[in-house]
Amino acid sequence: MKIIKAADYNEMSKKAAAIIASQITLKPDSVLGLATGSSPVGLYKNLVQWYNEGLLDFSQIKTVNLDEYHGLDHTNEQSYFYFMQDNLFSHVNINMENVNLPDGTAEDGDKECARYNAVIQSMGGVDLQLLGLGHDGHIGFNEPGPIFTKGVQRAKLAETTIQANKRFFESEDQVPRYAFSMGIGNIMAAKKILVIVSGAEKAKILKEVLTGDITPEVPGSILQYHPDVTFVCDADALSLME
Ligand code: F6R
Repeated sequence: MKIIKAADYNEMSKKAAAIIASQITLKPDSVLGLATGSSPVGLYKNLVQWYNEGLLDFSQIKTVNLDEYHGLDHTNEQSYFYFMQDNLFSHVNINMENVNLPDGTAEDGDKECARYNAVIQSMGGVDLQLLGLGHDGHIGFNEPGPIFTKGVQRAKLAETTIQANKRFFESEDQVPRYAFSMGIGNIMAAKKILVIVSGAEKAKILKEVLTGDITPEVPGSILQYHPDVTFVCDADALSLME
């Protein structure tokens, strides 16, 4: 496990974007596993900037997102599809046929989990999976619980996650209670994993993830077992590690 310290959010974003940029440069047809939320916004801005400067080509890149709220369609500004369009896809030369997210409008949850799992399997392995870290230690929407989930699941959001994510919605009531998410098994199958963590409010959970027991009660702790994981974290997030 590598831990790269950045001074602040902006430096974290740039360092992590550089890792994704080098993946794209070294393997132009990479499969990238992507994340949403506040953590990767700056990272995507850097990728878009480097694309505009002619340094990156997304034409052969394939993507598979970690998760999507169940109940939100593509036009909903809080859907992760919308987020990805807004922050990355609409600004670069990615082929939208190569972009994959769970379908938030699916009526049959089990069927959608099976479909998305098959999509992930059909890609022949994720080359680089980007992750943020939830305040409760979740990765994707794999919330603390009794087991490490294997495949794609329709996950019930933990109360802490509803509280953390309500800032994006007009009211708490509007936060969807369920989301489709890659399972821990899907995430751990990625060849490389890049985790970005920023802010003092994540310092405690980050320390648990990096140095604590490996337990499904802290889902991100499983990353200690991954053979090629890099954490890029800002100084505030790493403040309890000194
Ligand atoms: C997002 C995702 C979540 C977030 C996590 C951190 O696709 O899977 O696990 O990475 O909730 O969110 P932020 O970055 O908003 O603190």
